[in-house]
Amino acid sequence: MAIFENPAAAIDGAYPHQPARLRHNFAGDPLFSLEALVDLAAKLPPSSVEYNAGEIPVDQDPAKTPSNGLSIEETVRRIKECKSWMALKNVEQVPAYAGALERCLAEIDGPARAATGPMEKKLAFIFISSPGSVTPFHMDPEHNILMQIEGSKRFHIFPADKGLVTDEQHELYHSGDAHRNLKHRPEFDAHAVAHELHPGDALYVPVKAPHWVKNGPEPSVSFSITWRSRWSLDEARLRLANHLVRARGGDPPPPGAAPLRDGALVIAHKLATKLGRRA
Ligand SMILES: [Fe+2]
Repeated sequence: MAIFENPAAAIDGAYPHQPARLRHNFAGDPLFSLEALVDLAAKLPPSSVEYNAGEIPVDQDPAKTPSNGLSIEETVRRIKECKSWMALKNVEQVPAYAGALERCLAEIDGPARAATGPMEKKLAFIFISSPGSVTPFHMDPEHNILMQIEGSKRFHIFPADKGLVTDEQHELYHSGDAHRNLKHRPEFDAHAVAHELHPGDALYVPVKAPHWVKNGPEPSVSFSITWRSRWSLDEARLRLANHLVRARGGDPPPPGAAPLRDGALVIAHKLATKLGRRA
């Protein structure tokens, strides 16, 4: 049985640059019951479970994100009242969830491959969060489809091409020297499109499109399936190369302003990475 309703039509014309809404039938699947999620959290290594208090502002300083003082299991079991946000990362480490990820991505593979090449680095995440929790303003390097399983979310998404994030911020992000949360300014919100997501709804989130998220009045469970592509990996390589240029006092042009230079830098970065691995 298919998971997505006519996914090719849903993302046609939008992928990879624009958000797109889809419908899925994973809501109510036993893989996402609270009991299954407690089991899953226990199977994952501690480094794959991130959680904290959920009542935080959209511009939360990541260095000061408050903990919720509970164990992982307590946090999942008490998610309705414990005012928390939890991410189970790389859930494809557990075979049942690897299977779910593959089933979903197989349905998107045709149109995605046609636009951005074969899918690479396929990963899955589950977000479990209390009523009213906020995920602060940030961006991600992957193509992402967020599938709402339980509860509701208001997903505020911003265009990737409006200059809300400076080139320096993009470069620092890929260099690993910056936290994924971004500085949010109230005037950015004029550029946001808010998507209400209920069980059965899904949203394609383009690579590096900034977003912040607020839960509705019920506990929320979301399943996020992500992949990289030649296109997204080349963008990351260019940002890293530009980071090095800037660190040496250079002033790299914005991506796209000098396509030949960009292409040459991406190739040089690929070669340097390969040589570095062999050394
Ligand atoms: Fe995100």
